[in-house]
Parts: sequence; structure tokens; C-alpha cells
Amino acid sequence: MEKVKIGIVGLGRLGKRHAFNLANLVPKANLQAVCSLNEAELEWAKKELETPQLFLSFEDMLAHADIDAVWIASSSVFHASQAKTALEHGFHVFVEKPMGVTLQECAEIEHAVQNHQDQVFLVGFVRRFDPSYRYAKELVATGAIGTPFLVRSQTCDLDEYAEFQLEFVKTGGGIFLDMNVHDIDLARWFIGSEIKEIYAKGASYVHPEFAKLGDADNTVCLATFENGAMAILSASRTAFHGHDTHTEIVGSKGILKIGMTPRRNRVEVFDSMGVHSDCIRDFYERFEEGFIAEAREFIECIIEGRKPEIKARDGTAATRIGMAMTESFKKGKVVYM
Ligand SMILES: NC(=O)c1ccc[n+]([C@@H]2O[C@H](COP(=O)([O-])OP(=O)(O)OC[C@H]3O[C@@H](n4cnc5c(N)ncnc54)[C@H](O)[C@@H]3O)[C@@H](O)[C@H]2O)c1
Repeated sequence: MEKVKIGIVGLGRLGKRHAFNLANLVPKANLQAVCSLNEAELEWAKKELETPQLFLSFEDMLAHADIDAVWIASSSVFHASQAKTALEHGFHVFVEKPMGVTLQECAEIEHAVQNHQDQVFLVGFVRRFDPSYRYAKELVATGAIGTPFLVRSQTCDLDEYAEFQLEFVKTGGGIFLDMNVHDIDLARWFIGSEIKEIYAKGASYVHPEFAKLGDADNTVCLATFENGAMAILSASRTAFHGHDTHTEIVGSKGILKIGMTPRRNRVEVFDSMGVHSDCIRDFYERFEEGFIAEAREFIECIIEGRKPEIKARDGTAATRIGMAMTESFKKGKVVYM
């Protein structure tokens, strides 16, 4: 196979970016079909991507599109059922995070992946494809900071997106599953052990609407791993300066700090206001290279008959831990995994 023919489902805030990347920035991908519930988004695809096949129904796309692989960027609540159906129809599958919003769904995906070993399956933990996180991983592997024993990681979104996120909370699994799922995956990746104990706190300090939905706008969680390591994972929907995702990995011989100051670039302005820099605005601006790299990896795995490093069980583990964080936050007690 020289090129992989792809059908994408979901053309929202992120799906449009994925579709653009697959159509323009992934040389061995051929974006053949797009699917969305929203006709205006399909019109956008027709105009901007010149995609030949447009579908309002996922099932119709699977039945009628000329594709080898399915790229799932729909709302989180549909990820698992669409991934499972696509695998069962013989397609390679990329699925955005979270892989599922219940453990039953995750188990069904793992089962489907197990039963379709010849198909590539990848969960979109994009930070693992970011050049800085990859470099940090290489440094840890060479022993540069000794044995890592603490991961501090946060995901913070601009306050102006809070209104959009209110809608998201209703089906996306809440702040821990939607936002911290990335930090959970990173912590597991860097520590190389499983989380066994969790204590999560949170509240709605700026937007009481989140509390009314049983969610929070700012959270923090302390976790411990089976090997004795620790993690402090936090999330915020109320950053006023910009998108501020960063991670520290503390080891027995040193510390790695990844993206601690979310500067847009290396320019500092010295003027009557003092010294200042522009800030990164959103997750896409921060992780653009990672989004392109994960798409290339998915396509190359299919062409080369390789399996990605990220497994379905990583998707399950992240969902399990995100759900345990939610339970701890809601019940106000420590959760043992
Ligand atoms: N990796 C990341 O950093 C990251 C960042 C943002 C969003 N996401 C994930 O990407 C997914 C999409 O997020 P978004 O912000 O683009 O959401 P969105 O609400 O803007 O878009 C959702 C899209 O899915 C389509 N859709 C929903 N249900 C569908 C169905 N049953 N059949 C066909 N189409 C359907 C909608 O028409 C829309 O095009 C979410 O699961 C989210 O968690 C990941």
C-alpha cells in the first residue's frame, strides 16, 4: 500500500485540524471521506479540503466510502462505539482521547483490537508525539535524571473557552477525564508503573455553572504508583494568560521541566509596561507538531505493518484513572485502584 485512504468522523474544533493535516501535511494519507452531524461542517470540508465523499452518518461512511482507515474525532461519548464498529468492519482505527468514557466500553475496544490483530489501532495521546516530551522521555531512558519518582503535570485552558467546555462536560466525562487524561498518560509513561491510589480535590472558583453539573473549574490530584513514585496532576479551565500545559519530572539525580513558561515564541517586548511576551492561546497552538507527528505515525504504522507504541490498554488505564479521580473528587475520599 503506497497511500492510506482515510475517512474522518467529527469536524469540530479539533476534527477540522485533523482533517486539514490528513489532507495536506501527511504525505502518505489520502483523505477520501468526511463525516459530521453538522451540514455546515461538511460544506467546509467540501470547500477547503476538496474531499470527494461527504457523510451525515457514520454507518453510511463505513458502508459506502472507499477507505482503509477511520479517524475518530467525534464527541467523546461516541469514541468507543465508533472505534469498535470500525474495527469490526476491518478498518484501521485512530481514536481521539478519551478512548472510552466507561470501563465497559474500554474493555469492548480491547477485545475488538485483540480480535483484529492485523489492523492498526492508535489512541490520540498527542503529548507523546510532541518533540519536547519525546526528548524528555529519551533523557529519562538514558538515566539523565536518575530514577524518576515524581511527576507534576498540569493542563490549563483559557477562561474564554469555559462556555464551550460547559457543553462538553455533559457528555465528555468531566474535567478529569477530558483534561487530565493527558497528564495521566504522561505520568504512567514517564514513571513506567501503574497508579494505585488517588486523592482528588476541586471546586468551581470562577464559574459556578460547573458545580451545578457536578464538575469543577479547577482541580488537583495526588496519586501514588505501585513502584512508590508519586504524581500531582492539576487542571484549570480559568487561565487568563493563555493555554498553560507543563510537566516536571523529578528524579533521584535531576529534574526535567517541560514547557514551564507558555511563551508563544522567543520574543520579549521591553516597553513602558515592562518586559513581556505573548502567550500560547490554545492546545492546538501548543501541540501542533505533535498532532501532525501522530497522524504520520498512524499512517506509517499501516504502510509498514507496524504496531504503535501506545496500546488500547493505555487508553483503558487513562480512563480508569480519570474515573477514579472523578470518584475521589465527588466522594471526598481516597480511591484505591
Ligand atoms: N488530543 C487533544 O488534545 C484534544 C483536544 C481537543 C479535543 N479532543 C477530543 O476530540 C474530540 C472532539 O473535540 P472537539 O473539540 O472537536 O468537539 P466538537 O464538539 O467541536 O466537535 C465534535 C464533532 O463531532 C461530530 N459528531 C459528534 N457525534 C457524532 C456522531 N455520532 N456521528 C458523526 N459525527 C459526530 C460533530 O458533528 C462535530 O463535528 C473530543 O473527544 C475531545 O475530547 C482532543
